Amino acid sequence: MIAYSLIEVNHLHRELSVPITAKFRVYDSLEKTLDYARMLERAGAQILTVHGRTRDQKGQLTGLADWDKIRAVKSAVKVPVLANGNILTYKDVKRCLEYTGVEGIMSAEGNLYNPAVFEPLNRDMANQYRAQLPVELLDMLNTIDVRYTDHQHNRAAYYPITQLSFQYLSIVRSLKTQTALSAVKAHLFKMWKPVFNANVHLDLRDDLSRISGVLASDDREKWKEAVGKFEDLTKVLAERLQQDYRDGKLDMDSMTVLDEDHDTSRIPYSHAQSYLRPLPASDTNGAVISTLSKRDLGELQKEDLALDGGADATSAAKRSKMDGEEISTNGNATTTTATTKVLQPTVLQVQQRFTAVYPTDL
Ligand SMILES: Cc1cc2nc3c(=O)[nH]c(=O)nc-3n(C[C@H](O)[C@H](O)[C@H](O)COP(=O)(O)O)c2cc1C
Repeated sequence: MIAYSLIEVNHLHRELSVPITAKFRVYDSLEKTLDYARMLERAGAQILTVHGRTRDQKGQLTGLADWDKIRAVKSAVKVPVLANGNILTYKDVKRCLEYTGVEGIMSAEGNLYNPAVFEPLNRDMANQYRAQLPVELLDMLNTIDVRYTDHQHNRAAYYPITQLSFQYLSIVRSLKTQTALSAVKAHLFKMWKPVFNANVHLDLRDDLSRISGVLASDDREKWKEAVGKFEDLTKVLAERLQQDYRDGKLDMDSMTVLDEDHDTSRIPYSHAQSYLRPLPASDTNGAVISTLSKRDLGELQKEDLALDGGADATSAAKRSKMDGEEISTNGNATTTTATTKVLQPTVLQVQQRFTAVYPTDL
């Protein structure tokens, strides 16, 4: 398997005019992880992305990524390295860059729940990005921003979820390729999760789940209609959240700026935030973070799939398959017991912090 993937990388490197990059999961063994990284580099990979979890760290066993291994890979190769795993907040982005010495960070789930997770680092980049956008999209984004000028703009990584949702839907509209409605729905579910976790506006969760089921279509006009429905529902949510704010249900003053000196103690459910899965017991170094029973964990997983809709359940299955392909080069990896790294308590701290805000039955 290893030889096969290296031959592929090498073949693509030689035959294509664009640079080839490679992403891989770590092995249990550091030595093997480093050998594999060096082999990928020799095969021609121009950037390496290291997902600091082994192939067995999936689903309920996902746990923490190993930044020490990522750091070791960074030292072992000359090509730029991107780190992947354990990125829940902007603070994690900074800490991971500092600790591992990598050139960049890749985030998947954290970024889906809070698309502004890189914002404080990337303000200049965001401005550059905006400057080259088609004028219609730029106008849309500017209009959305104006609507939100009253909100807590300096709240670092925590943006109003409806602002992010409107921005996301504008981008979706502007793309030539039609984003699958199931993917749009799944992303909105993730962004809106703080609201539903707070047990409010659950009728909107039902409304959202109904949209993509009815309107999956390749027809551009029908697809645009469906995107319009997502936008309409976002408007309803925005109105509801504004009303909640007027009714004093959203304690905006409690939200402190997320930077080196201030920790965020409570984030109103109107704002994007990380979603924290219970860690496997082995990832807590004995400290019990999750008191969920196996049955509760099963329920949690089911709830996740239901929330994300049937289509997302399929994509989760596909993703897991894809992950299997991605890490098939790790074919010989054996089951691991992950341990908490000294420099990664943020994830646990954040988890504890959020536990204080939300009930533990998440
Ligand atoms: C919706 C979704 C799509 C993904 N697609 C890919 C993909 O196309 N290729 C890939 O190598 N990994 C993919 N992954 C895995 C992520 O890149 C990443 O390795 C994994 O989610 C761990 O990072 P995280 O802790 O930031 O989520 C995907 C993950 C998610 C959640």
